[in-house]
Amino acid sequence: MTTTTKSNILDGRRVANEIQDEIKKRVDELKEKGKKTPHLAAILVGDDGASQTYVNNKIRACKKVGYEYTLMNYPATISEEKLLAQVDRINKDEDIDGLIVQLPLPDHISSTKVTEHISPEKDVDGFTNLNYGRITSNHPGLMPATPYGIAELLKRYDVPLKGSHCVMVGNSRTVGAPMTAILSYQELATVTVCHKYTKDLASHTRRADILIVATGVPGLVKGDMVKEGAVVVDVGITRVASDEHERGYYLKGDVEFEEVKEKASLITPVPGGVGPMTIASLLLNTLRATEMRIERQ
Ligand code: GUN
Repeated sequence: MTTTTKSNILDGRRVANEIQDEIKKRVDELKEKGKKTPHLAAILVGDDGASQTYVNNKIRACKKVGYEYTLMNYPATISEEKLLAQVDRINKDEDIDGLIVQLPLPDHISSTKVTEHISPEKDVDGFTNLNYGRITSNHPGLMPATPYGIAELLKRYDVPLKGSHCVMVGNSRTVGAPMTAILSYQELATVTVCHKYTKDLASHTRRADILIVATGVPGLVKGDMVKEGAVVVDVGITRVASDEHERGYYLKGDVEFEEVKEKASLITPVPGGVGPMTIASLLLNTLRATEMRIERQ
């Protein structure tokens, strides 16, 4: 067994702060040159506590780097038609550079329809078909934020991706599928994709040099499912009800952290791993969208 210290933590919070400092400098330069200040708009529908927290964290990050921001809050009863009209309005707003619609949306609204309605130039979550498809082009567009953040985190810790065997557990459209495309196409890794129909999951995860888990099943990956020395990235963040915690819940990832950290050479904590990197990517995408807009003018 490896003796572990805090040094095997992939500290997403630290790296995200580093990226935010870099962005702040760039924003100050733009302001000095009399150029446009990046402006992010966020749409939040309903009053789901977790979604509110995520959006508030995004707004706080905007304030920190000096972006302008607009938060639009709609009741869960808003019609799909009205929501699409709001997206249209923001698409046309010359002052807004980036738009996110926080997911999930209420059942009567199609998230695919709404996200696909966002102009690809303002799609700073990288959710539209165009930006997704452009991962495999020589001119990538705005990159899907969570996978982009994970790739950036691994690079800043000098984790070799080229030729490494990455095992992706989860094939969602927002994380697993674009992560697979980035790793295999852009980073030239060898990728195995597992999902809920995969037989004998452990036989795959045990072969991973880099194991990325995004299933939303808390504690799915146990210590005996991980190779000694593997790099482990946990995308899961589930609120687990608990009387022992003041808030009435605690946050748990898809990986049994205490067991797996004994074997991993590097591992992301939950919270403080992937979450802050998703926000950093959102800010990077918003900066890129602004700079592309300045170039077009
Ligand atoms: N819901 C969970 N993660 C995300 C995200 O990265 N972006 C948006 N818009 N909604 C989410």
